[in-house]
Amino acid sequence: MKLLHVVGARPNFMKVAPVHAAFARTPGFSQVLVHTGQHYDANMSDVFFQELGIPAPDVNLNVGSGTHAQQTAEVMARFEEVVTTDRPDMVLVYGDVNSTVAAALVCAKLLIPVAHVEAGLRSRDRTMPEEVNRLLTDQLADLLLTPSSDGDENLKNEGRPAEAIHFVGNVMIDTLVRSLSLSKPPQSELPPRFALVTLHRPSNVDDPAGLRELLSALADVATGTDVLFPVHPRTRKQIAEIGFSAPPGLRLLEPVGYLQFLYLQQRAAVVVTDSGGIQEETTYLRVPCVTMRENTERPITVTVGTNVLAGKDVKRMRELVGQALSGDWKKGEIPPLWDGKAGERIVEVVRSYLSSRTAS
Ligand code: UD1
Ligand code: UDP
Repeated sequence: MKLLHVVGARPNFMKVAPVHAAFARTPGFSQVLVHTGQHYDANMSDVFFQELGIPAPDVNLNVGSGTHAQQTAEVMARFEEVVTTDRPDMVLVYGDVNSTVAAALVCAKLLIPVAHVEAGLRSRDRTMPEEVNRLLTDQLADLLLTPSSDGDENLKNEGRPAEAIHFVGNVMIDTLVRSLSLSKPPQSELPPRFALVTLHRPSNVDDPAGLRELLSALADVATGTDVLFPVHPRTRKQIAEIGFSAPPGLRLLEPVGYLQFLYLQQRAAVVVTDSGGIQEETTYLRVPCVTMRENTERPITVTVGTNVLAGKDVKRMRELVGQALSGDWKKGEIPPLWDGKAGERIVEVVRSYLSSRTAS
């Protein structure tokens, strides 16, 4: 059986790693890895292949950056050629980025079965581009592999057939579990206590006034506690445009590799973020997480884990950071099936799906 995986942006790489590895250990599968090129800087892409032992992509579509329509259309046009030549038995797509929905749509038209890893998550906020990608990908996919049971409920409520939905657990946590003992300190010395920040959602960083407000609140936090902020390229561009210069204590860094970011998460007194994956990782690591969003497609990190939503309210963010620094935070639990074995469960679901198709 020939499988083809499609990845393109930073959070896809942590997700494909354990799934690819699990199929590589299983006889009877050959695998092709397609990188769309949505992310292309070495510190947004190559570093994860090296650190996570992902084989070099067989194909790179080199789509690069663009508007949503341009990027999605480029992936579709270039991926269609690959998939038409390669004719895989199944295509696996990951998460909620533009590359995900583009690949799923191409396959649906070519009648190639699609498995969506991380299906069913919903923020119910269609101003978020990823929500559109999630909804459409889940309408198109034949196998819906969910990280938490809220995903199953969402999919059933949208009329997706029960037999397509499989609660397999969280593949991002597979990578985390595997990497815990490998996490890597940065070269410069760390402050004894620090807050770790990432921000890259358009809703937080694309509006100059909103971004300025956030940065000045982080500068205030930095008067009491060091703040480490590896800056996503989207955000770096926006910061350059507003001309912000960071005070001492607020360290604006380049994006760091996975193993270093894990080291920082493990030691952070609090994480302030708008990332999807980091809400999950902090829950697993039981580190306080303040999410700068009005909603989350990962509600289990709030109801079960260590995540609290601050919305866009910077005053609330500062209060929550203060609370976390004083040690007053919920402990949280690790959600069901966030156990490092999601990749293996995916192999079983895919194997059984493909063998029943061959039989019929
Ligand atoms: C994308 C995903 C988002 C995900 C994020 C993870 C979509 C709609 N968005 O957002 O869901 O959370 O990746 O990091 O798919 N850039 C570079 N170098 C790179 C990549 C991007 O400089 O290697 C800059 C470019 O100026 C580009 C901008 O970042 O225009 C945005 O990149 P893009 O992939 O469009 O969206 P992200 O904000 O990265
Ligand atoms: N991450 C990283 N280096 C960084 C910032 C994040 O390795 O400088 C990792 C993080 O640990 C998680 C993933 O990137 O595994 C999350 O990706 P991102 O925040 O870009 O996307 P999202 O999850 O919001 O879609």
